[in-house]
Parts: sequence; structure tokens; C-alpha cells
Amino acid sequence: MILLGVNIDHCATVRQARYRGYAYAADGPVEPDPVAFALLAEQAGADGITIHLREDRRHIQEHDVWRLKEVAKIRINLELACTPAMIAFALKLKPHSVCVVPESREEISTEGGLDVVGQRDRVKACIDAMNAADIITSLFIDPDAAQIELSAQLGAPWVELHTGAWANAYNTPQRAAEFTCLYDGALRAHTAGLIVNAGHGINYVNVAEIRTLPHVHELNIGHTIISRALSTGVEEAVREMKKRMNP
Ligand code: PXP
Repeated sequence: MILLGVNIDHCATVRQARYRGYAYAADGPVEPDPVAFALLAEQAGADGITIHLREDRRHIQEHDVWRLKEVAKIRINLELACTPAMIAFALKLKPHSVCVVPESREEISTEGGLDVVGQRDRVKACIDAMNAADIITSLFIDPDAAQIELSAQLGAPWVELHTGAWANAYNTPQRAAEFTCLYDGALRAHTAGLIVNAGHGINYVNVAEIRTLPHVHELNIGHTIISRALSTGVEEAVREMKKRMNP
């Protein structure tokens, strides 16, 4: 069984598009609520909730993370940049796991994997701090041999292989080569003793291929689930509004 981590960031993206700067209140107008979305995902069988508190707070806010911690029964995986402020936040929150991702202000969503080789000491300090606090560290890396081997050497128990390049190449001649990189990466990571997760750009179509990767423990999927939920809920949302306009 491959586990599903549902990434709820883009639920907050929709909220921020209308309600940036509004304080959350349980009976207030602020919607959609990513925590409510997470609870529905939990009811539907999600194995974990992934949430990325970005430095610029463009989608998920700190109160979302704390509210989620209070109500979620399933695992919380906190995505974070490898910075002292975010490490301190994670040590306070104590999620089940953290996933260390690169962050740049210009990107719309995470692009490219973490450069573990290039920032070895910083990454090692993060892993050590999390290990000491019994929080699992996952490193979000490209399926690159040097990144995988060093992740294992530094003591990270998990990696999340970045599936973005493959997803972007899905309808191009490069797809097979990108899939081979992921395939070899998954084998290498497993051989190095790492638990292998994967994520980014997985959707309802390409999941048929990604599920054939060897040794995958969990897939982290966000955008496609939020998008599907928007369209599957549209009929009821319109019906309800018409009813309230003309009771
Ligand atoms: N895994 C990581 C580390 C990510 O940064 C993201 C994107 O926020 C995802 C998985 C989910 O990607 P998507 O929204 O494309 O499913």
C-alpha cells in the first residue's frame, strides 16, 4: 500500500486570494479553511497532511498550522526551508515529520530539489536537531545519485524524490528518461537505507505511472486534489447559493 499525504497549501492559496490579512475566526467569513479541508481529507482516507509554512506566508499561515495540530488525528508533515527560524518553529510544533525544501520568493510552488551537497552543514544541523526531538526528517531532492547518497550519510531517515521534472515532461519524448531517473533514484535511495517518498506535479492521470516506482512509501499530492475538489463541488455550491438568494 502506498500512503497518501495530502498537501493543503493551495486551499490556503485560494483563501489568500480573497482574504489576505483577515483574522481567522471559526464563525467568520474567511474561506476556504485549509484545516477543514484537511479534516475532510482525513475522513476520506488520507494518511497524512502536508503543509508548507513559507517564509513569505503566501498561503499557509502560522495559525493554520497550530489549528491543524490541535485537530488532526493523522500525521502532520511540515515542509520548511532550512533556516534557524523554521527549525525553531518545527521544534515547537513537533510534527510527525518535516520535509526540507528549497525556497525562493519568485517561484509559484517549490521548484528543483534541495541542494544537500551544496549546503551540507546546514542540512546536517537540521537533521540532527530533528533527530534529537524525535521528528523524522525528509529531504526533498532530485533523483540524483550524489544528493541521495549524501542524504543517507547525513542521517536523514527519509527522502522525497522530486517528481516535477518527470511530471513536466509527461507529454514529451523526455518522459521515459525522466522516469528512469526516478526509478534508479528510488532503488538507490532504498539501497542506501532511506525511506522513499515522492511528490510534486502528480495528478489523476500520471499517478498510474508513478505508482510503479519501486519502494515508494508515500506520495505527497496537492494541486490536483484541490483542483478536483473545486470542480466536483461546483454543482452543490451553485445550487446552494441560488437557494439562499431566493429562499
Ligand atoms: N512535495 C513537495 C515537497 C512540495 O513542495 C509540493 C508542492 O508544494 C508537493 C509535494 C505537492 O505538489 P503538487 O501540489 O504539485 O501536488
